Amino acid sequence: MTPFPAAAVFPPLRERAPLTDLQKEVLALKKEKRAVILAHNYQCEDIQSVADYVGDSLGLAYRAAETENPTIVFCGVHFMAETAKIVNPGRKVLLPDLEAGCSLADSCPAEKLAAAKAADPSLYVVAYINCSAAVKALSDVICTSGNASKIVGRVPADRPILFVPDQNLGRWVSARTGRPMRLWPGNCYAHVQFTPGALLRAKAAHPGAPVVAHPECTEAVRDMADMVCSTELMVGWCKEQKADTIIVTTESGMIHRLRREVPGKTFVAAPTDRCSCNECKFMKMNTLQKVRDCLAGGAPEINLQEEVRARAEIPLRRMLEWSR
Ligand code: 13P
Ligand code: SF4
Repeated sequence: MTPFPAAAVFPPLRERAPLTDLQKEVLALKKEKRAVILAHNYQCEDIQSVADYVGDSLGLAYRAAETENPTIVFCGVHFMAETAKIVNPGRKVLLPDLEAGCSLADSCPAEKLAAAKAADPSLYVVAYINCSAAVKALSDVICTSGNASKIVGRVPADRPILFVPDQNLGRWVSARTGRPMRLWPGNCYAHVQFTPGALLRAKAAHPGAPVVAHPECTEAVRDMADMVCSTELMVGWCKEQKADTIIVTTESGMIHRLRREVPGKTFVAAPTDRCSCNECKFMKMNTLQKVRDCLAGGAPEINLQEEVRARAEIPLRRMLEWSR
């Protein structure tokens, strides 16, 4: 018997589950408060089902920039809710659990980035959106996994690039664009748990199933994938596949979105060496109950120092413009 867990298998969704009483309560509160619910692809299924928009970091940033609702309930992690606040200083941005952080964002404290910039003022800082508002405020342009190559392609050729904070995404972008970059030594604790061995076992159990992987995975894992892309692009890519089973190498919440929008396919959540699928503990801190409570109580709210917010808005707006 193998000591490794088998991959979790999700057959095609036959029908959508009816709304629960708690979901109905959330929808009624949302209407009463004129709130919009934005949710990342990694959120729990019951939250995704009541959201006005479910997407990747790039799509969520655009939606946040376009919203006209007085309140945004951001179901994702802290840096994502901060991003919504950066472009919406006059609106209330709520995060159901303020402790929902991100290991990547934590790996790049603003003081350390400020010191790196002071040591080499010629650096052009490209910051993956998975960073704090204070780090964004020190950056020249922001990118997401959905637009990183496009953004790096627009950086003036005579400037050395410092890419923060994800070394795996940075290495992938550098290879795609041919642009050398200094890489910050951060990573996503969840995505680096995918290993070539675990993926090989999943492939052996599901022969012929194509593999899609997020660029936050290590290079060894990315090299085994048929496609490497952001969570949003995974939806379109999976729709195009002829195979009826696809191995998805990212946080397993993604499978909820895929099952809703790519009917008729079986999705295999790529396992790690220890677990049959892979959840981000930060993303899973938000629960539907907390969404209800934050809508009802108007808290916890994201607040930013205006100086930091205004400075962070410049590279973020630059990304939104360059990415169109
Ligand atoms: P996406 O922008 O591809 O959704 O990625 C966000 C993220 O946090 C991945 O771990
Ligand atoms: Fe951060 Fe990784 Fe969780 Fe994404 S999956 S929010 S990068 S810790």
